Amino acid sequence: MTSRSLRTLAIVAVGALTLAGCGGARGGGGDGGDATGGDGETFTLKFSHVTTDSTPKGTAALWFEEELEKRTDGRIDVEVYSNSSLYGDKDEMQAIQQNSVQMLAPASAKFTTVAPALQVLDLPFLFDTPDDIPSVAAPDTEVGKAIFANPDLEAKNMKVLGLWDSGMKQIHSNNLTQSPADMEGKKYRIQPSDVLKSQIEAWGGSAEAIAFAEVYSALQQGVIDGGENTYSNIESQKMHTVQSNIAESNHGYIGYILVVNTEFFNSLPADLQEILIETAEEASTYNRDNVVGLNQESKETIEAEGTTEINVWTDEERQAFKDVVVPSIYEQYRDVIGPEIIDELLANQ
Ligand code: SIN
Repeated sequence: MTSRSLRTLAIVAVGALTLAGCGGARGGGGDGGDATGGDGETFTLKFSHVTTDSTPKGTAALWFEEELEKRTDGRIDVEVYSNSSLYGDKDEMQAIQQNSVQMLAPASAKFTTVAPALQVLDLPFLFDTPDDIPSVAAPDTEVGKAIFANPDLEAKNMKVLGLWDSGMKQIHSNNLTQSPADMEGKKYRIQPSDVLKSQIEAWGGSAEAIAFAEVYSALQQGVIDGGENTYSNIESQKMHTVQSNIAESNHGYIGYILVVNTEFFNSLPADLQEILIETAEEASTYNRDNVVGLNQESKETIEAEGTTEINVWTDEERQAFKDVVVPSIYEQYRDVIGPEIIDELLANQ
């Protein structure tokens, strides 16, 4: 929670006590609701996520907090909990389904058990550059429908409010990674996605799903040899300080599905629902406008620290990795992700 959130909480708490003293206090927003009274019911929206405040997700979450509180005159009090400080990868999915937290923005891979089709975003070489993301994942495409109109998420009490980017993934390790042969016999941390496991195994490595908050220590202790992540995640979690190499591979994407608990959302008056939706949409734009710059800054920080050699894949190196997994992984996951989606993606490759 930010210091601004703490101040806001204090103001709301004083206001709540005052109003309760006048009588008529009532709760709002399920587990997340605050008791206030009088004319203005207030709601507390806990937004938990696993990256630091400086990342594309962290900065967008803080922007969302500030804007939503301003636009609702404090009727929605947003508490942002970053860096796995409230819930982490292991418990956040359960927490949102129970309305213990009202908003999350997990990477698509974290939804694998609750909404397997979202693994579409984990497919290797889905985008060539971040510029391709808006068109490939637009709400009217098959990929977009899998995100924005996902029946599994609706069934699990989650309403989708947006797609945020962490950006393109790079491979970090303690050796040069220029061909799939360089991955043989090495173990890579992955997010919990079957697609990602198949991708690493196709390249000759082995894969282990590890919670984001535990990656640094797993690398430091040598439990794993490397992993794949965006520059902003690598730098903000200090992974580069225990890795000698980064292959700038841009071989995959990390996208966040911004979700709100439906019970909480439905408990809001119509005007607050509208402001929440609009602010989330604008937060998605804010995130996308800043993601490339933030990853570039993280890359420059890593370069300046001098701990890690960065090698950019040549077109030939990229093609060699791509040939191993496209279209084979796409075909392997045709039924899980959906045949229409796979057809659309392969047609655009
Ligand atoms: C995140 O960006 O939210 C975490 C991604 C990861 O687990 O690597």
